[in-house]
This record gives sequence, structure tokens and C-alpha cells, in this order.
Amino acid sequence: MAAEADNALVVVRDLRTYFTVRSRLFKKLYVRAVDGVSFAIRAGQTLALVGESGSGKTTVGRTILRLIPATSGQVLFDGQDLFSLPPAAMRPLRRQMQIIFQDPFGSLNPRLTVEGIIAEPLKVHRICRTRRQRRQRVAELLQRVGLEPAHARRYPHEFSGGQRQRIGIARALASQPKFIVCDEPVSALDVSIQAQILNLLKDLQEEFELTYLFIAHNLAVVEHFADRVAVMYLGRIVEMADRDELYANPMHPYTESLFSAVPVPDPTRRPQRSRLEGETPSPINPPAGCPFHPRCPLARMAVAGQLAYQRGGQPRPPLPAHETCRVAIGGEPVRLPRKCVEQVPELLPMPDRPDHLHACHLRR
Ligand SMILES: Nc1ncnc2c1ncn2[C@@H]1O[C@H](COP(=O)(O)OP(=O)(O)O)[C@@H](O)[C@H]1O
Ligand code: SF4
Ligand SMILES: [Mg+2]
Repeated sequence: MAAEADNALVVVRDLRTYFTVRSRLFKKLYVRAVDGVSFAIRAGQTLALVGESGSGKTTVGRTILRLIPATSGQVLFDGQDLFSLPPAAMRPLRRQMQIIFQDPFGSLNPRLTVEGIIAEPLKVHRICRTRRQRRQRVAELLQRVGLEPAHARRYPHEFSGGQRQRIGIARALASQPKFIVCDEPVSALDVSIQAQILNLLKDLQEEFELTYLFIAHNLAVVEHFADRVAVMYLGRIVEMADRDELYANPMHPYTESLFSAVPVPDPTRRPQRSRLEGETPSPINPPAGCPFHPRCPLARMAVAGQLAYQRGGQPRPPLPAHETCRVAIGGEPVRLPRKCVEQVPELLPMPDRPDHLHACHLRR
């Protein structure tokens, strides 16, 4: 499979995480938060997972770390099948896999000092046995993330958002992990602070040869950070490619619409930027066929005969009527390509670029 790398530290295969919720009539319903996700992350590299809020990014990260039970699928970490490991075998692996949370305010225990917070993994994983050793290690970690050893005696509320995120990073580093899920670690921070934290994460990655799953809702954040980018929509990956390729040649209209949310200094650089309308549909009852069809500008353009053969080329003629169908979107009748409404597009490699995968019928 093109999505799998040879020297991958983390391999995720057809991962599904459904949550059970009950409707008012006590019927069991499933939130398909993650619905068949596969990717691999090479050791020492960063895979960015990007998509709007609610697309399932956090659930992917937490399911990989076994913080949430998977409904089905497989995760290999350093060749070991995580979901089939008994708890005793999982414990040493937990030390190697950590998470940095989105919210630097809610993710640190307010009743513990900074030393208590960072020393916790040192105790749990029996890395430092004496208090003195722990103190020494906490001081080293604080310095490494750009804080002072004297900060160890203070409480989280005494710090700014950026400083709290540094504490969260020190806590994640304490157990000397190989792999860190960075769950939107800068989204809650001021723009001026974001770059500092991203630079810190980048430096730490080089120094400790860390592998990151870096979650973001914004393509701008990961542009200088990711080696590879996977774009998620409604629990599925709709496009995945190496960073430079994805930024130069986005194929899926959802990826293109994410670019339209990013301020671009050179507007000629990215082709066909489109505004995304409407809300993300509910993952309880996702649309049939391509889940993006109710919002897809490309599908509407294909019916109207505005779709170019190639970008910048001549428009294709409108689709013949038998290849289209009428659906109601937001109460309005809209004509769309039949294929988009009826068939789920698979995430497939492009014929001439096997590392670039996308799930769009009309871009084949
Ligand atoms: N514990 C839960 N129970 C029910 N639904 C959940 C739960 N956690 C997340 N979800 C739903 O799963 C979907 C994906 O959520 P999440 O993974 O947090 O997305 P993201 O991180 O991309 O914003 C959302 O629709 C969310 O409401
Ligand atoms: S398959 Fe159709 S609806 Fe889905 S992204 Fe492609 S054009 Fe749009
Ligand atoms: Mg999230």
C-alpha cells in the first residue's frame, strides 16, 4: 500500500472508532468519529492530520494511544500490534508514546505544582527512583523547554498560555518517548507565541529523533512543520501526500477549500481556491456516496460544465443528464453528478504519483 512506509514507526490500518449515543427515543445511534483511516509515519518524521473541527482528528490520536477503545482496525507501533497486547505488555510501550493536549489551561492539574506535574510520568514509569533524582530531572526538562528550574515550585495558574504549553511539552518529554501526538498544541495560543512553540517542537524533534502525529485545523500551521499531510473529513482521510506535493497540487476540493481559509501572500501560487459553504454534516448520519457532496463546489461545477480538463485548460462540457441526479441540500434542489451522490470514493494513489492519494471521483 502506498500509504505505508518501509521504516514506519507507526502504522495505522483501517482504523474505526464509533461512539454509541442514544437518541430521544432510546434508539442506539453510532457517531462514526473515525471511519476507516490508514496511514504510516516514518521514524523521526511528522505526519500532519488536518481538518475542520469535528472531523475526527483527536479521536484518531487518542485511539492510537489506546486512550479510547477502537471499534476495529490495527495499529502497529515499532512492529507491535497495540490492540492485541495485554495490559502488562502495553505498559512499557505507554512510556514511548505521549500526547500534548490542545488546551494548555485545562490539561494541567491545577492542584499540582509544576514539579508534581512533570514528575508524575517519572514516577509512573519508574524513571527516577528518588525524589532528588526527580527534582534534578524536572529542572533539566524545564530548562530544555525554555523555562526556569525555579518554576518547578509554582502552580499552573501562575503561567501564561505559552508557558503552560511548555510545561505540557516537558511532561510529555519526561518519559523519553519516541512518538508524540501533538493535538493542536498551538491553536489556543496567540499568533506571536505559536511560532515559538512550533520552533521548540521542531528543535526537540531533531534532538530526540521524535516522531510526531501533529493535529491541526489549519494548513498554515503545518506548512513548515510536516513531512507528510493527511486531510480528514467526517472521519475519513480524503487526501494524503508529502508536504510539498500537497501544497503545490491539492487534488481534493475539500483540501482546496482549506487553503481558502489560509491567508496566502502569493495568490497565483495555489490553483482554484474555493470558499467552503455550509456546516460539516453529522457523523451520526453522514451523507451517502462522497460525504463531501452536499458542500462540494467541484461537483456543482461539473454539472454546470465549468470543470476544466486540466487546471487552466478548456472547460469540459456539462455532464449528460443521465450522469446527474437531483438532491435536496439545505431544502434547495441541486443537481449533482450521480457518482458523487451514490458511490463512496476510495482513497487511491494517483497513477503518476503513487505517494499522493486522494478520494475524489472527478479528479481521476
Ligand atoms: N466521547 C464521545 N462521544 C460521542 N461523540 C464523540 C465523543 N468524542 C468525540 N465525539 C464526536 O466525534 C466526532 C469527532 O470528534 P473529534 O475527534 O474530537 O474531532 P476533531 O478533533 O477533528 O475536532 C465529533 O462529531 C464529536 O462530536
Ligand atoms: S467525489 Fe464528487 S462530491 Fe466528492 S469531492 Fe469529488 S467531486 Fe466532490
Ligand atoms: Mg480535536
